[in-house]
Amino acid sequence: MAQIIDGKAISSLIKDELKEKVSNLKAQGKETTLAVIQVGADPASTVYVGNKKKACEYIGINSLAYELPEETGEDELLNLIAELNARKDVNGILVQLPLPEHIDEDKVIKSIAPAKDVDGFHPQNVGALCIGEPGFVSCTPAGIIELLKRSGIEIEGKECVVVGRSNIVGKPMALLLLRENGTVTVAHSKTENLKEITKRADIFVAAVGKPKMITREYVKEGAVVIDVGIHRMENKKLCGDVDYEDVEPICSAITPVPGGVGPMTIAMLMHNCVESLNLQEG
Ligand code: GUN
Repeated sequence: MAQIIDGKAISSLIKDELKEKVSNLKAQGKETTLAVIQVGADPASTVYVGNKKKACEYIGINSLAYELPEETGEDELLNLIAELNARKDVNGILVQLPLPEHIDEDKVIKSIAPAKDVDGFHPQNVGALCIGEPGFVSCTPAGIIELLKRSGIEIEGKECVVVGRSNIVGKPMALLLLRENGTVTVAHSKTENLKEITKRADIFVAAVGKPKMITREYVKEGAVVIDVGIHRMENKKLCGDVDYEDVEPICSAITPVPGGVGPMTIAMLMHNCVESLNLQEG
């Protein structure tokens, strides 16, 4: 029987720790405020943004919600970000992705002040992660490191294989595992002999974006399997990139979907919001 890594429970624990921190900060007269911007009404984004607002409320972080219409111009969005960058009472700025096609995502990410970029997407924060300097780290991979550490799973010296090379998950995941002294391989859609490579993994992070693609043929017996995917199946149930029923019996630990990696992303966003006070105060 594999250890089921309970992301919901671990994220609750982190949120409670943050709630206490925020309350202590408030006693010193320090408030944290997150601005959340959504452009358009993509239903999935609306759910994510709603969950972020709820988490802020629970922890005691102020949130400012900007719900802008789909047809909002790029300049209008950039002006709003410039205004929020300049506001002393705003510590974190999050622009929910994806943005409508007429807006240049890279330009928007680069316009957020790095010290308020709680998503950790700005090139300055990505560069800081790369060379081991302080900065914000992308929330999903940061959450995965927390899951591993709090589940007593050692990373140092282990063979870690990340499948997926996105800027938001795969690349920062590889850098974080490396920072923890893992031996890291990044595989992707053009990788040859994928199974041979993933079978080497002591820690296997699947961020392939394909429902149930990872079967036991890809997994070494006793591996730790982290599933970043989330997909809605025809029967309305959620599943991950990993075929859970097939893989669970042969691995030593696994994250379920839902209730694994997902809840950790928001917990780490909240962590970054609290951290933003420290970063801004130097
Ligand atoms: N869209 C999907 N995931 C994320 C995320 O972590 N941050 C932002 N801003 N948008 C997203």
